[in-house]
Amino acid sequence: MPRTLRIPVLTLLLIAALTPAVRTQTPEKDRRMQWWRDARFGMFIHWGLYAVPAGDYKGQRSKEIGEWIMSWANIPRAEYEKFAPQFNAVKFDAAKIVGAAKGAGMKYIVITSKHHDGFAMYDSKVSHYDIVESTPYGKDPMRALADESRKQGLAFAFYYSIMDWHHPSQYVKAAGKDETAGHGKTEMREGQKPVYVAYMKEQLKELITGYDPAVLWFDGEWVDWWTEADGKDLYQYVRSLKPDILINNRVGKGRKGMEGLNKTDQEYSGDFGTPEQQIPASGLSGVDWESCMTMNDTWGFKSYDENWKSVERLVQNVIDTASKGGNYLLNVGPTAEGEIPAASLERLAGIGKWMTVNGESIYGTTAGPFKTQLPWGRATAKAGKLYLHVFNWPADGKLTVPGYTEAITRAALLSQPGRSLQFKATAEGLVIEVPTAAPDPIASVIVVER
Ligand code: GLC
Repeated sequence: MPRTLRIPVLTLLLIAALTPAVRTQTPEKDRRMQWWRDARFGMFIHWGLYAVPAGDYKGQRSKEIGEWIMSWANIPRAEYEKFAPQFNAVKFDAAKIVGAAKGAGMKYIVITSKHHDGFAMYDSKVSHYDIVESTPYGKDPMRALADESRKQGLAFAFYYSIMDWHHPSQYVKAAGKDETAGHGKTEMREGQKPVYVAYMKEQLKELITGYDPAVLWFDGEWVDWWTEADGKDLYQYVRSLKPDILINNRVGKGRKGMEGLNKTDQEYSGDFGTPEQQIPASGLSGVDWESCMTMNDTWGFKSYDENWKSVERLVQNVIDTASKGGNYLLNVGPTAEGEIPAASLERLAGIGKWMTVNGESIYGTTAGPFKTQLPWGRATAKAGKLYLHVFNWPADGKLTVPGYTEAITRAALLSQPGRSLQFKATAEGLVIEVPTAAPDPIASVIVVER
């Protein structure tokens, strides 16, 4: 076959191989998603110009999330741009950030390359509105983070917002107000969509060819001018640049609200669902999913948000998510100087302490086999093993696994692997004899071998 004829055939094959549907589980998708399914726990990083006002615009504070300050404080573009010369990430230390993620037991990092404010946190050649060209810092922190992630063995990934409050193609329509009001949904100017889509594609090409991200995590897809057809086209485009990349369901219009469920009236684009600030009660059946969550009440840094979740709560969230077959993406919001707040670092270290002992019960596991919630905690499963995560330790030294009738060969605490625990089958289910005091105040893990 002449060489010129091969290209269309290959292109057709490639398009057929790209299965842009959250619901479609194929061997090709299984292979592509394997590392991500094994990982179970990642770090989300929201970092951008919004860290400069840090939730305070000329004395105006709000309960709203920090990275939406341009919206809730109604800041005109020209005013918001003035945060750039104040953004000086002198304390940014990629090794420290990646080290904190790794220390917590996280296996991947997803960071905002461009949030709704349109500011590129990397060296973009198609925009001057980026960290290298318009801040005193003048360096590309994404380069350092991508390199450092690889060095420390974590996967590196990008968040990218489709909605863009800075790009001239978009504006905000609000009766009687100027264009800065109500940023929740931008409007697209007549004839400008192809211009903007071309711009996004250029930026995505820069991100993919320049930093080789493992995932593209889209957001801001809810604007009316973005369609499922646009989502499918963007999905194909991104995968044509890197066939093995993973893409979330916010590339298209399949997401149903904050539950992150997928609508089922058609095949929607994206590889996994994205519940936000919640862990679905019984997971999302038949689809891959990842719950993203904040440690306090904001994604982007706010100087006065101290509503921190406890280490106990966060560890139990990691477990809860894994027990339902999902990934947990936990957020940190660095300051404008580039530091993760101390309260977040403390929590990451606390989670890491638990993960060091019990990580085996999280990584590479699937959902536990129980149809109803266990009275004392959660369970995960992996190759002939069942992991019981006990949040509420039985005071009488007997842990009952209700309805469990499988023959087992051994039970032991993950923290004391050498010491077998006695067990017996009863009418109520498997009963394991355990020490009367909880070995771990957060969650003690018993591994049951079949
Ligand atoms: C929402 C917010 C956005 C945040 C995202 C994280 O979509 O608009 O600010 O980045 O949630 O999932």
